[in-house]
Amino acid sequence: MQVASLRRLRQSANLRDWISQTRLTPKDIILPYFVVEGRNVKKEIKSMPGVYHFSTDSLLKDISETKGIKSILLFGIPKTKDEIGSQAYRDDSIVQKATKAIKREFKKLIVITDVCLCGYTIHGHCGVVKGNKILNDETIKVLAKTALSHTQAGADLVAPSAMMDGQVRTIREILDKNGFDDTGILAYSAKYASSFYGPFREALDSWPQFGDRKSYQMDYRNSNEALREIGQDIDEGADIIMVKPALAYLDIIYRARQKFNLPIAAYNVSGEYSMIKKLAGGDKIREKELVLEVLSSIKRAGADLIISYFGKEVIRWLV
Ligand code: PBG
Repeated sequence: MQVASLRRLRQSANLRDWISQTRLTPKDIILPYFVVEGRNVKKEIKSMPGVYHFSTDSLLKDISETKGIKSILLFGIPKTKDEIGSQAYRDDSIVQKATKAIKREFKKLIVITDVCLCGYTIHGHCGVVKGNKILNDETIKVLAKTALSHTQAGADLVAPSAMMDGQVRTIREILDKNGFDDTGILAYSAKYASSFYGPFREALDSWPQFGDRKSYQMDYRNSNEALREIGQDIDEGADIIMVKPALAYLDIIYRARQKFNLPIAAYNVSGEYSMIKKLAGGDKIREKELVLEVLSSIKRAGADLIISYFGKEVIRWLV
């Protein structure tokens, strides 16, 4: 019996392109940046080859060299850390200064700032700690102050990533109260306690000094709970929701896409980045193929936006 030929439309690159369903475009990419104090700093992060710590001046230069870039996600490495992460919300802190400088020079660039405490606290946890507990309500107040100061510096969206209950609502309230009703919230809604964050924690020097993050980040055995987290963030005022990590959580992206209608971002995290780097072993062509396959799979699952450390190259390949 003659069966339909599924190979017929695979015979040339032109045909394959013509019927392709998933299209990765430069505008899908959110490029993460790590910003440090100082001048003229561009220092490769050991755990993430090809990713750098930039001082603000070098960061501006790097952005200007990345033609076609639409959005960035900023992480700050503060000069000093303390118990409550007070450098997170100071107006003269690193993210605030960098945001101001970036928005002054690149008015149209969408600047998103990560709102969390782990890079700012001595203990490396994402919240205020008492004894062995990570306190919820004390933390969300600090997160709200941080989000407000990022917004005052010019952030277009703030991205709370501490996984505290009620963080989105508290941030929405403080922004509205201060007249920033146009500032958006990209909520790290379904953020899992993942071993794929390892290289990032070296970049940010944010390893928890005791215990782990399992009392606030999600258990990877669960998926229904992710939908609850996302639903709750939407009720609290999230404009964009996020699933993180991406590659080991494509089912979560897919389920979120079926259930919710707002834009979905996926974070292709540091460990996923390193995995590809290792597998490609310095072969640039293999690396490109791997990156495009992985990022396309994340889009195919249903993500609209992808945070990727390969962002710069991807934009270069696609424009
Ligand atoms: C925490 C935060 C983490 C990442 C971004 N924000 C990880 C953590 O829980 O330590 C990880 C990003 C990555 O691995 O690329 N606020």
